[in-house]
Amino acid sequence: MSLSLIDLKRIIKAKNPNRYKHILGTFETATYLAKRHQVDEYKCQVAALLHDYAKNEQLNEMQELLKTLEPDLLNHSIELFHGPVGAYLIEKRFNIKDEDILNAIKYHVTGHPNMNEVAKVVYIADYIEPGRKHNVSIQRQLADISLDMGVISCSEGTMNFLNSINESIHPLTLKTYQTLLKHVGVETYEITKNNCKRH
Ligand SMILES: [Fe+2]
Ligand SMILES: [Fe+2]
Repeated sequence: MSLSLIDLKRIIKAKNPNRYKHILGTFETATYLAKRHQVDEYKCQVAALLHDYAKNEQLNEMQELLKTLEPDLLNHSIELFHGPVGAYLIEKRFNIKDEDILNAIKYHVTGHPNMNEVAKVVYIADYIEPGRKHNVSIQRQLADISLDMGVISCSEGTMNFLNSINESIHPLTLKTYQTLLKHVGVETYEITKNNCKRH
């Protein structure tokens, strides 16, 4: 891959002008989290800039691609389509082969129980970037302490929101939440979460 971050920003701004503020916010938050938790900064930055690449793709074209890429996803909300479609298009159009970057983009909406540190950074950054209107102070505080707790808290927030609007939860989101909660320890998470809430 030979594209610089400046090139990527220019491409993204032209392709997704309406989302550019959100994308830059995600980029800056991902940079911060990568530094804080010693994760590969460049991979996090590239994935953050490209995570919503397919957001404006035509629905029928995404559906066509998903028939081969992820047919199961066609039974779920169209909001989830741009993750796997984006990863596919980015590999094709930018010749990016790095699995860490591609997986971070692919799973930035649903999460994945085996997501690595780059994917965790992007998943959290997308949820807590400064332009987000909903209250994400607890997610920000937990992500500062640990990426696992950040992911748990963001997936918890997503599931609560989906429940509140009677939307179904993708099995990967639930599995991500359960797997990381088990890894961190339910009690540790609850105690830390409650301590964060008091501030
Ligand atoms: Fe997205
Ligand atoms: Fe996003």
